[in-house]
Amino acid sequence: MSIIQFDQHVDRSHTQSIRWDKYGPDVIPLWVADMDFRPPEAVIQALTKRVEHGVFGYTYASQQLKEVIVDYIHRTYHWKIAAEWISFLPSVVTGLHLSVRMLTEVGDHILIPHPAYHHFKDAVLGAKRDYSEYEMTLHNGRYILDVAQLERLVRPQTKLLMLCNPHNPGGTVFTKEELLAIGEFAKVHQLIMCSDEIHADLILDAGLQHHPIGSIGSDVHEYSFSLMSPNKTYNFPGLGLSWVICPNPEIQKKLMQDVHTLIPNPNLFAYEVTQAALEHGTDWHASLIDYLRKNRDMVHARINAIPGLSMEHLQATYLAWINCSAKGWVDPFENFLKAGVALSPGSQFGDQQFVRLNFGTTSRMLHLALERIENFVNHKLG
Ligand SMILES: Cc1ncc(COP(=O)(O)O)c(C=O)c1O
Repeated sequence: MSIIQFDQHVDRSHTQSIRWDKYGPDVIPLWVADMDFRPPEAVIQALTKRVEHGVFGYTYASQQLKEVIVDYIHRTYHWKIAAEWISFLPSVVTGLHLSVRMLTEVGDHILIPHPAYHHFKDAVLGAKRDYSEYEMTLHNGRYILDVAQLERLVRPQTKLLMLCNPHNPGGTVFTKEELLAIGEFAKVHQLIMCSDEIHADLILDAGLQHHPIGSIGSDVHEYSFSLMSPNKTYNFPGLGLSWVICPNPEIQKKLMQDVHTLIPNPNLFAYEVTQAALEHGTDWHASLIDYLRKNRDMVHARINAIPGLSMEHLQATYLAWINCSAKGWVDPFENFLKAGVALSPGSQFGDQQFVRLNFGTTSRMLHLALERIENFVNHKLG
């Protein structure tokens, strides 16, 4: 798929799109994290073929699919995993909640990031676990995790350390050295590490590499696992599938114990699209990254040119984290909504003075949204 095809607007009205339906036709919706692009043609074809078969019975994940993932992980991250390390879930969110509920008990303490995708906090609150939030602090334009801070927060009851890599909403791609330092901390304090890596294949900067937590060396794979999914990258989150890579069989057993009494398997279409995307999506993916990089650069230049708004250089994801604190607004989200653009309120991630802008849309739509924001901030409130 060429860049020109990413430019084609696909009308998503009347498709029960959460993102497009909530605010109506007069608002440009750049909030929930899905993109406006059609997935690779091979994905559509695999889906069409399966639909035409016409019988949709109970379906399991084939060994072949596991082998495709093993190959993909090796090709993409140079990490040799075994097929037995893989388990399937219908979503990464399920994996976050399951990690908290199955690997800790009431009375245990958990370390989670702040700001962060809201399900980290929802998972610990929902399970009534004690928790501390570690700050992702700004250092040379990157939101990083300072291990000295973790040392101050850890307690004898701490059992689990949750990571978001790449980080949503900060866009940080952790380096191997950073991950090794965090891994060493976890080892000393005998913590299990749960790493949400849903944005792993949305790295925008050439030369940067995602490192799945178990791939970084030392013996980190013995006490960590990754939650991964093709849904974000290939843009079929409505189909729902994630996989867990857990090299330690005891942790894997505890995590997945009786899981399918409460949580269904992914559906048969999700297996089909996952395999097609991993096997045939490479060129499409390269074009997507080029397109998103251009969108990122447009957002970065134009937001930073608006007095009172700013954002840091975003290494990964299609989600720009915009600081509005210099404006002194009570609720930045409401102001942008008045301007005709729906963003994600920063309060969802733990900081009301920010908003998050999803630039996984056509550059034309992005331009229109930025124009509304510029007009509003520069001429009405500025
Ligand atoms: C860090 C992170 N984890 C999980 C999810 C959701 O994953 P899923 O749709 O597979 O539950 C998102 C979606 O935005 C996310 O940003």
